[in-house]
Amino acid sequence: MIKKIENGFFLSSAKTSLVLGIEEGKLISLYLGAKIKEIEDALSLRRDYIPMGNGTRYKEGKEIYLDNLALEVSTPYKGDYRQPSIVIEGGKSPVYDFIYESYEIRKGKEIKTPEEYPSPRAIEEELLVTLEDKAMKVRCILHYLLFKDDEVIGRYTEIVNLGDDEIHLRKASSMQLCLENKDYELVSFYGGWSDEFNEDVSRIGHVRMVVESIAGSSSARHNPFFYLKNKETGLDKGIAIGINLVYSGNHFYEVELGNDNLIKIANGIAPLGFDYFLRKDEGFSSPLALISYSDSGINGLRKNFHFFVNSHIVPERFEHEPRLVDYNSWEGCGMKVKENKVKGLMRKAKKIGIELFVLDDGWFGKRHNDSSSLGDWEVDRKKIPHGIKGLSDYCHKLGMKFGLWFEPEMVSPDSDLYRKHPEWAIKDDIHEPSLGRHQLTLNLTKAEVQDFIYETMAHYLRNEGVDFVKWDYNRSMSDIPGGDSCFFHHYIVGLYKVLSRLTKEFPEVTFLNCASGGNRCDLGMLSYFPLTWVSDDTDGFKRALIQEGMIVGYPQSVMSNHVSAKTSQQAVRKTSLPSKFAVASIGCLGYELDLDDLNKYDLSEVKRQIQFYKDRRELFQFGEYSESSRLSSSNLSSRQVKLGDKAAVVRTIREQPLASPVETLEIKGLDDDSIYSYSVYSFRHELSKFGPLVNFVAPIHIKEDGYLMTFLSNHIGMDSEKFEGKASGALLNNSGVKLPYQWQGTGLDNAAFYGDFSSRLFFIERI
Ligand code: DGJ
Repeated sequence: MIKKIENGFFLSSAKTSLVLGIEEGKLISLYLGAKIKEIEDALSLRRDYIPMGNGTRYKEGKEIYLDNLALEVSTPYKGDYRQPSIVIEGGKSPVYDFIYESYEIRKGKEIKTPEEYPSPRAIEEELLVTLEDKAMKVRCILHYLLFKDDEVIGRYTEIVNLGDDEIHLRKASSMQLCLENKDYELVSFYGGWSDEFNEDVSRIGHVRMVVESIAGSSSARHNPFFYLKNKETGLDKGIAIGINLVYSGNHFYEVELGNDNLIKIANGIAPLGFDYFLRKDEGFSSPLALISYSDSGINGLRKNFHFFVNSHIVPERFEHEPRLVDYNSWEGCGMKVKENKVKGLMRKAKKIGIELFVLDDGWFGKRHNDSSSLGDWEVDRKKIPHGIKGLSDYCHKLGMKFGLWFEPEMVSPDSDLYRKHPEWAIKDDIHEPSLGRHQLTLNLTKAEVQDFIYETMAHYLRNEGVDFVKWDYNRSMSDIPGGDSCFFHHYIVGLYKVLSRLTKEFPEVTFLNCASGGNRCDLGMLSYFPLTWVSDDTDGFKRALIQEGMIVGYPQSVMSNHVSAKTSQQAVRKTSLPSKFAVASIGCLGYELDLDDLNKYDLSEVKRQIQFYKDRRELFQFGEYSESSRLSSSNLSSRQVKLGDKAAVVRTIREQPLASPVETLEIKGLDDDSIYSYSVYSFRHELSKFGPLVNFVAPIHIKEDGYLMTFLSNHIGMDSEKFEGKASGALLNNSGVKLPYQWQGTGLDNAAFYGDFSSRLFFIERI
């Protein structure tokens, strides 16, 4: 609900309220928090301003200082000495003083978001507050959006030049928010290739913190999602305020604490490389920022954002649509894709229950390694004599969907496309352009490049039987051309044009957002593509950490998780297939290993995993996710999904504790009065896991690394620990159930052999 009240506005969702006030014509925030009853006068919440000895009074005779106001928009040079959220240059004066002019409340279909960006679905109400600097003839319209059944508030800024002088925007933040500091800490997510979503917790002190990406994409360096919490915030209790941006390019957010105990937060497009010119009557709209408040801790905040992404961001068809279990050829085959091998893999994949087969890199041009052929999207007939259509037909006949890898935004210098159109690549024509993964980026600010990408993709989607596209993006930008003062932004707008065209024309196709793993994991991309390849790191442990970070802001329904070979290609660490399955299960399951290398036990284990997952797919993909403990702060993570009568818990340990106390399986949110069954996903340990210990029971001596051990391991194993029972929901919610003890050098009985970096999956169901 949005309402005009005396001296301001009252906005409320089911659990959150925001009160905006107008004081001396300035728009300020007076309350953001748990839902309150509507108030009559917004300024009843104002705080008194302490007279400041040397302060710059906004109006002589009044104790009002811009520097201390909780302004919704800040401009420089008028007495607010914090970092401005809007910087305009080129007018007759550098000073801008935006004063309240008018407001409008729009509902449902009347609401139109800027067409250059993706728009979230089901916007229910919009408040537009128009501020103006009449002397400078510039208008600043602040937009506030409320969404159906949601706890997320949208916010974007529009600047319109009404005067004759050309002006330019040096900084055009999407939002600004000022909050009373409650010992808040800033939690941000940083990383790099194969190392996405590390959490960084920094105390908000009196230094301005700026987090940004200037790589041309949202980037794994700093994800646009962040949140504020304090020491009292736990997984289920306390305040957490999360902010994100619906944008895929350079972005920033900054947090500044003043001596008046006000924290000022702003986010939007990164100012570096952004200088937007506006002639008379032209306007610029920022991308949409999102704010969500939770007083039920991190799990509460995550619930708000998960709901938002599923219900308002991903294309409507995917809101509830189950994602298919896929097989991807990358880690198994690399670029050695040969028709017969691929067909053999398809047959095996079908047998184990795979529903979608994705042929990754290496199928086109002369692509034998990553230094050539991007841009030459013609099948390599030497590798695949019957072409893509031949493969997709074969796949369809087997009863699976067919997916294909592309990296449409890129060009290899060694490609026919580059030889024909060197001017299509991003470069400044002064310096030798630096390559990333031996490639250049195509210049998507050019209409002809957009058309080329669209035509190439449309051909495959129309004629070659491609049901699924893995859309990769494997380098950051460099050597941008001169002459466009908003090059990075125009690139993203160009990209959105292509994505919008393709997804509108081919709504039945599913696209997977990939950028060397999670290098462009953001709400802009998710608005077109309902799935994201989380990371190129498929190691059974590191991947659990990455997912733990990502899932604070993004739901598991968009997370594509693959089980890869036991020995990780990234960490060279060995983890069992059941352990990798447990990690991959919360999210959208897939496999990425050479199925021809699996012995018959492993193949049947994988088949069993897929069936287990399919039987509970909705739970794993759409169940309410929560955590009882996290790897980022302990040796153990306990992650849970719950949907209706079912729940699953995945426990991951970093280090197998020796002489450990008996541990508990923690579950929450069950119905107190119902009875539930619980059990562990059981499996078979390989004999080789036990090394020389096997000699305690073996009739003949077996060398740890001998041939006999390998042979026996392929044929015999040992059952994992038994753990199953029944208990009331109340018991499980309040005290959980004790788990079998972990092996500690003696006492075989029902010991659980976890080993370091391993995971277990538990399933709980109401009887
Ligand atoms: C990077 C992706 O993240 C991988 O999954 C794979 O598709 C390779 N690119 C192929 O070059």
